[in-house]
Amino acid sequence: MIGTIDNLLNFTNDLFQKRELKPIFSQLATTAQYMWERGWAERNAGNFSVNLTSFFTTKELERLTTYPFYPFSGRFPELVGNLFLVSGTGTRMRDIAVNPMDHVCFLYMAEQGDVFHIINNHHEGAPTLPTSELTTHLTIHQRLVRTLSADKVVLHAHVTELIALTQLKAFQSEEAINKLLFGMHPEISLFLPGGVGYIPYTLAGTDQIAIETIKGLASHKAVIWEKHGCISISDSPDDAFDILDIVAKAARIFFLASVYGHSPEGLQPDQIKEIRDHFPGK
Ligand code: 13P
Ligand code: ZN
Repeated sequence: MIGTIDNLLNFTNDLFQKRELKPIFSQLATTAQYMWERGWAERNAGNFSVNLTSFFTTKELERLTTYPFYPFSGRFPELVGNLFLVSGTGTRMRDIAVNPMDHVCFLYMAEQGDVFHIINNHHEGAPTLPTSELTTHLTIHQRLVRTLSADKVVLHAHVTELIALTQLKAFQSEEAINKLLFGMHPEISLFLPGGVGYIPYTLAGTDQIAIETIKGLASHKAVIWEKHGCISISDSPDDAFDILDIVAKAARIFFLASVYGHSPEGLQPDQIKEIRDHFPGK
């Protein structure tokens, strides 16, 4: 029988200890550690979500409706029956690196997609609530589910190099920033051949930033949020981190090469084409 406090606690434990989720928890912990080490995660900066629905049977998912539920201001009808692992609002990446389970929560989407059941690892004390960027995360996941995408991870970080770059007027457009990034680092052509999306400064946590972000992610694996950071999608936390890392490196090369007041030359269009031709399908 389910529904009693003891049964819920046991099931919570089963959920957090599920064997198939261990590699995901492990990758999230290392990703959080790298974000902290890069300086992209001051205080509570950054967040992530993972769609875990495919790891569970319908029977297991049905049990989640016994958990307390929260109404949500957004409505995500295509996510009903989906289960997400989401970083907690206000949590530090450096704490997630040490103990991911205590700083994340599971969300099971129910009713019309405007309610979620929340499952925490805390048996007492304040529950971990989902990131303040939940609207953006769920808007992205809804699009990924709709398009049958293999991408299940959404990662957001305050990538210092990109925040700095988007403080410069010359790079405040998708065209200008991509031209720079492609020119600074060959890996952009290999791993982000479509470049990155770009959103002019928009208030975080709003429907507006969610709408603009999914527009950008329709044709890119990462979208830069002007003067705020970057968000990436991928099939694993490791790969979502790699995307941010490659873009950050291109920006870092620009700043390093500019130190003495010279403008970096950049890879030329024929060199970029040569890279693409030499590594087709990358
Ligand atoms: P949360 O702590 O609510 O996830 O916020 C962090 C952040 O980066 C907001 O943009
Ligand atoms: Zn942020």
